[in-house]
Amino acid sequence: MLYAGLYPGVLKSTFNRHKVYSVDTEGRMEKIGVIGTGYVGLVTGVVFAHWGHKVVCADQDAGKVERLRKGVPPIYEPGLADLLVRSLRDGNIEFTNDVTDTASKSDIIFIAVGTPDKGNGEADVSQVEAAIQSIAGCIDRKKIIVMKSTVPVGTNDWVRSELLRLGVPESRVCVVSNPEFLREGNALYDAMNPDRIVVGGADDDAMRTMSQIYDAAGCRILYTDAKTAELIKYASNCFLAMKVSFINSLSVLCERFGANVTSLADGMGLDGRIGRSFLNAGLGWGGSCFPKDVYGLMRQSEAAGYEFGLLRETITANDLQIDRFVDAVRALAGGLEGKTISLWGLAFKPDTDDIRESRAVHVAQRLIEAGAKVKAFDPAAMDAFSEQFPSVEMCRDAYSCARQSSCVALITEWPVFRQVDLGVVRDTMSNPAIADGRNALDPAHVRGLGFEYWSFGRQ
Ligand code: UGA
Repeated sequence: MLYAGLYPGVLKSTFNRHKVYSVDTEGRMEKIGVIGTGYVGLVTGVVFAHWGHKVVCADQDAGKVERLRKGVPPIYEPGLADLLVRSLRDGNIEFTNDVTDTASKSDIIFIAVGTPDKGNGEADVSQVEAAIQSIAGCIDRKKIIVMKSTVPVGTNDWVRSELLRLGVPESRVCVVSNPEFLREGNALYDAMNPDRIVVGGADDDAMRTMSQIYDAAGCRILYTDAKTAELIKYASNCFLAMKVSFINSLSVLCERFGANVTSLADGMGLDGRIGRSFLNAGLGWGGSCFPKDVYGLMRQSEAAGYEFGLLRETITANDLQIDRFVDAVRALAGGLEGKTISLWGLAFKPDTDDIRESRAVHVAQRLIEAGAKVKAFDPAAMDAFSEQFPSVEMCRDAYSCARQSSCVALITEWPVFRQVDLGVVRDTMSNPAIADGRNALDPAHVRGLGFEYWSFGRQ
């Protein structure tokens, strides 16, 4: 009953355990290699191991491998440590620094290395290139190379041609695209209960093997060509980001018209064709995926000679939320110069310690530039934030964070902020005011306690 109560959806898949192993045509159990133990690689490897596959994960970071061998994940992800320990104990997963050895031992090699933004919106695929170089010499029989990393459209074809260029005989080269759709903070649930698996490629054996690997997921597998699979990944993230930006633009109209954006989202979301998810108005989208992928698809589109205006507007609308929020904080605090502002939440969303492209980074930057003294509390992300912003005072809880402050700026909707006793907070602030960047609190309740209160698109 590992996750009962805590992660009900994960439990569903736990019951599934797992008589199906990937086997080759002679019935021999195949070994899965995973190159890269970042978010995607580690969660994928651990879930495969949980499903009963034999998995070896390689990462060049020796310290990380050492910790993983002891069952300590380098990232904060609910449930991951438990499942990792269990898979280690069952002998289904191992960790190594040796990429070449991993590739030699494995029949199926998942490439799950990072593809960060180069700084100009283009994806940096140098880690993919390095991985391909390392494994090329180990393809001594037909092996399936699975591209799990988010890569620009056409990369699978490039990997194939690169393996041929490096001397791998054509009969052994088999490259498949298999994009991932995990959300940080819900990664185990998503990996075990996916809406769909996408597999892009043209090799029948590879398609069969992929369906065996994912059998325990019990969901539909969409088979398509590699370029379409690569594009599905970008298109999905861009569409979700666009949905968030759409509701955020409507939140501006709600303020002008005196309407309520939450009821608006509810009313739209009840239409099954639209759906309610990703219609929560607020500070907008951040993280390591949406910004990278929206810019990434926009650049790829430009390179293909098409100006994808919807994506540009999606970014513009997202940036506007920061301006609106900082203006609201300034108005509530009575200026920013010399004022103490308290940030509630630093992670780019709840249930993660990830601050990459977090709205908190942009807001803190702007407040500091305007001369404010910034205090902060986050249940998981304070260490990372402190490194980037040494001048921000980290606090032990939401109460000490709000003390003597001119405005609380709620940035990440961690449940703990909804449970705070606001009456206590009010009495310790120098000016009881809350700018709610995630529409997380009830306006009538907060105002009833004597706060000045602002949120996006609600009266
Ligand atoms: C996203 C996708 O949801 C995953 O399917 C995908 O696999 C992943 O990127 C990836 O490419 O690796 P993630 O970045 O973990 O997952 O975060 P989301 O839960 O999608 O949220 C993204 C951002 O949108 C967050 O900053 C969140 O606060 C914001 N958001 C989300 C809103 O502002 N409003 C909403 O209604 C929903």
